[in-house]
Amino acid sequence: MAYETIIVEIEDHVCLIRLNRPDALNALNDQLLKELARAMTEAQANDKVRCIVLTGSDKAFAAGADIKMMSEKSFTDVFTSDLFTDETAAVARVRKPVIAAVGGYALGGGCELAMMCDFIIAADNAKFGQPEINLGVMAGIGGTQRLTRAIGKAKAMDMNLTGRFMDAEEAERAGLVSRIVPAKELMKEAMGAAQKIAEKSMIATMAVKESVNRSFETTLREGLLFERRVFHSLFATEDQKEGMSAFMEKREPQFRDR
Ligand code: HXC
Repeated sequence: MAYETIIVEIEDHVCLIRLNRPDALNALNDQLLKELARAMTEAQANDKVRCIVLTGSDKAFAAGADIKMMSEKSFTDVFTSDLFTDETAAVARVRKPVIAAVGGYALGGGCELAMMCDFIIAADNAKFGQPEINLGVMAGIGGTQRLTRAIGKAKAMDMNLTGRFMDAEEAERAGLVSRIVPAKELMKEAMGAAQKIAEKSMIATMAVKESVNRSFETTLREGLLFERRVFHSLFATEDQKEGMSAFMEKREPQFRDR
């Protein structure tokens, strides 16, 4: 079935997913999040895809959950439907690497969606925020949790309590984004990073993702043990032999995901 609120393209092993509700600054509604979850699940299942890039428009990655859609909802509505939980879980569950390329506004659910990705590359016009407090509510899909882990308590409290926006420079200083680039180079940079990842052994890239994410779920001791065992397991792959042989033979490795 065709998508209406996102655009999906696969090029050179990279699946580019573009949020596409320009009239609402890519505000997240049920349809968009369902389509995004489906696209992510399909990208995970597609052998041609080795890395995923999620982006919006020059003006907005996403300006949050759709306020018009939410405005009429009751406690019972959001509690019984567990608003957006299944869809965003599908995004966070993808095991292939996902890069968020953020230009313009990444607010509320938009900021939370970017944080579900593995890392964020920001355009110099990017603005991050958790302004739900201005609507009489609060973040609901990671803005008090992933943001706190990413930038610490002081800034996470500041963002969530005041609703102020953080520009790209501050976001990079705080550790929310990995790189900032001029807005017109955002997609070139993000696709370039994705191509680099796509060249690696996918067994290793998926292992890295799983291991870094594990650090958020467990103690240092358990995390280090997990990392060590996954490291050991990579020695069972042909790609480990190929990667190390290629280094010694001074040539590029040809990884085959085996
Ligand atoms: C619905 C939105 C929207 C949103 C923007 N629009 N954000 N529609 N939901 N979150 C719509 C506007 O209504 C407007 O439509 C059009 O997009 C352009 O927006 P403007 O406000 O005219 O643009 P601008 O003046 O440039 O201001 C941009 C902005 C502002 C600063 C981003 O739009 C804004 O503050 N948006 C809301 C941000 C926010 O509060 N996000 C958190 C949502 S709550 P019309 O039809 O009027 O032209 C959330 C909870 C997540 O995310 C938890 C989920 C479980």
